[in-house]
Amino acid sequence: MSAPANEWWTPWREIDGADVLHVDLAPHPEREAFAFSLLDEEEKARWRRFVVERAKRQFSLCRGALRIQLSRRLDCSNRALSFDYLEHGKPVARVKGRRVPLGFNVSHSGRHGLMAFSHRDGLGVDVEERLPRRDLDGIGGRVYGPNERQALAAATGAQKVHLFYRLWSLKEALIKALGTGFSLNPSRFEVPGPVLEGARSSDFRFPHSPEHPWRLHDLGEPRFAAALAWRLRSR
Ligand SMILES: CC(C)(COP(=O)(O)OP(=O)(O)OC[C@H]1O[C@@H](n2cnc3c(N)ncnc32)[C@H](O)[C@@H]1OP(=O)(O)O)[C@@H](O)C(=O)NCCC(=O)NCCS
Repeated sequence: MSAPANEWWTPWREIDGADVLHVDLAPHPEREAFAFSLLDEEEKARWRRFVVERAKRQFSLCRGALRIQLSRRLDCSNRALSFDYLEHGKPVARVKGRRVPLGFNVSHSGRHGLMAFSHRDGLGVDVEERLPRRDLDGIGGRVYGPNERQALAAATGAQKVHLFYRLWSLKEALIKALGTGFSLNPSRFEVPGPVLEGARSSDFRFPHSPEHPWRLHDLGEPRFAAALAWRLRSR
């Protein structure tokens, strides 16, 4: 199958040596068919198990774009590339069965996907489309810590929606960098004070492992909330 005329991802940000690419997840049958053709049998089986059309599209377009980017960056064929999954589902890449020295992470929300690549360890990216209809205080009460809940309670209208998704993406990027998924209760840690007050980046430490420093970066823009986190070397 031949590649569509235009790639569906574009370079978007470069943060401290990490490349972040935006992936266009708008419906596009030609791209979706081509992206699907790049998947291996396990990935195709996973694609078939998604019930919702949008989930199928997000998975195939992101995984197809990820495969093309990894093949280029690692100078290997798509067929030589495979994925396996850490304890809580974080994917890592292999070329001809060998683990590669390139970190990556992927996120998708609605029509937007982000792919991040870095030679650093422990990379996490998150994107969230802002949907104004949800019970923001109720959900925030379950996933945010005391200072975050207080800031959310004080915000109103569009500002509240903005803050809710900003906090969500920042915390989710940290959880994804760590790789623990739902096994870490997000209300057990908070974004650093300066970031809560609006700073775009800061160092960060999880309360359960303060010896390991991380870096957190807010990538939010008008279309969506987004964040990138990565592990710093311990001093
Ligand atoms: C996977 C997880 C980490 C995020 O899921 P999600 O919200 O659907 O996420 P995203 O679109 O941002 O990311 C999905 C991608 O992350 C990657 N991923 C999967 N498990 C991961 C993990 N444990 N760690 C890091 N990345 C992971 C995959 O590439 C996946 O994409 P794919 O399924 O197309 O391959 C989810 O398991 C989770 O635990 N989320 C925490 C939820 C939470 O409590 N958030 C509160 C924030 S305040």
